Amino acid sequence: MNPATAAPLSLAATDGTNVPFIRLDSAFPELFAELMETVERIASQSAFTLGPELESFEAAFAEFCGTGYAAGVSSGTAALEIALRALGIGPGDEVIVPTYSFIATAEAVSTVGATPVIVDVDPETALITAEIVEAALTERTRCVIPVHLFGRPVEMLPLLALCRARGIAVVEDACQAHGALYKGRPVGSFGDAGCFSFYPTKNLGGWGDGGALVTNDPDLDRKVRLLRSHGEAVRHNHELATGTHRLDTLQAAILEVKLRYLPDWNQRRREAAEALRAGLAGTAVIPPAPAAADSDHVYHLFVVRSGERDALRDHLDARGIASAVHYPTPIHLQPAYAGQKLRPGSLPVAERLAGENCSLPIFPAITDEQIAEIVAAVESFETAAVS
Ligand SMILES: Cc1ncc(COP(=O)(O)O)c(C=O)c1O
Repeated sequence: MNPATAAPLSLAATDGTNVPFIRLDSAFPELFAELMETVERIASQSAFTLGPELESFEAAFAEFCGTGYAAGVSSGTAALEIALRALGIGPGDEVIVPTYSFIATAEAVSTVGATPVIVDVDPETALITAEIVEAALTERTRCVIPVHLFGRPVEMLPLLALCRARGIAVVEDACQAHGALYKGRPVGSFGDAGCFSFYPTKNLGGWGDGGALVTNDPDLDRKVRLLRSHGEAVRHNHELATGTHRLDTLQAAILEVKLRYLPDWNQRRREAAEALRAGLAGTAVIPPAPAAADSDHVYHLFVVRSGERDALRDHLDARGIASAVHYPTPIHLQPAYAGQKLRPGSLPVAERLAGENCSLPIFPAITDEQIAEIVAAVESFETAAVS
């Protein structure tokens, strides 16, 4: 979840609602105490950038992702941008991105000077497919960014086959999918690079901004490390002029603690999603399609569809159930991409989803009672709608 406005996002444990949209680490007192000790340890060492704490988290995260390398960076957006730069993508190149994503997916392409080619998504999964990508290929296509949106893995094998055959790079946007599996392997490990966000609300979130870039390619990893920190591999020797895009040591230490809990948290998200899906069957909303048999969804978000989305949200709000919309405006209709001249109606699947989608609360600390309250509130919306 990202802030709807530029105002600071309050992630308070509860705000008076029966079911908040999310609860973070304060929901788990033991974890919270461990994290506070971690903060104190790092602060007392005065070790705030790079160093062994960061390396230790990077090794643990690479192992979690099943990749040879992981480099901590300052955000998921920075991970995407650095991945593209490390692959040599820039002006004159086209990069295919889905319109149904957070803006950062396209933004990273724009900030390296390449052209985002913004495409529609599959109506069932809200993800891009090899067929959609194939229809958008040109001689200038250099890269594709599949987004494992809401925690659901993209069908990677056909996409990789299409891209490999044409020498097109694949950068996975796994910012919402830490630990999701496709054919038994973690997402992020399939493409040339996988990009993760540790924004606080993500399945693995820090206490501030952060991100990581994973890869199996040692040369790419080396370039990424140069690009994230002043082009400097040897102290005071700057091979590239690149700026500061590091993951703070404090964040890395916090994330390493939380990574140990992530498999259990993802499991709880899956259980909650199954309970919601079962409870919502036969109500006025359409629950998200279950994951494909060979995939493991991690439900960063549980997004239902309703033709009366705004009325549904008002109804939930009146019953103390928080909700959100991801995303109300597809990327091609954002003011930042007006120059692309993609008018309303040009990418119809995403435009319809944007008008119907409603994200219901899902988080590891959600209780069975809260799930029952959500289901009851949606059921009464149906009753209200027909009476
Ligand atoms: C799909 C997707 N891509 C990229 C990002 C960018 O991550 P960050 O907010 O860490 O820059 C996000 C985070 O919101 C995301 O959800």
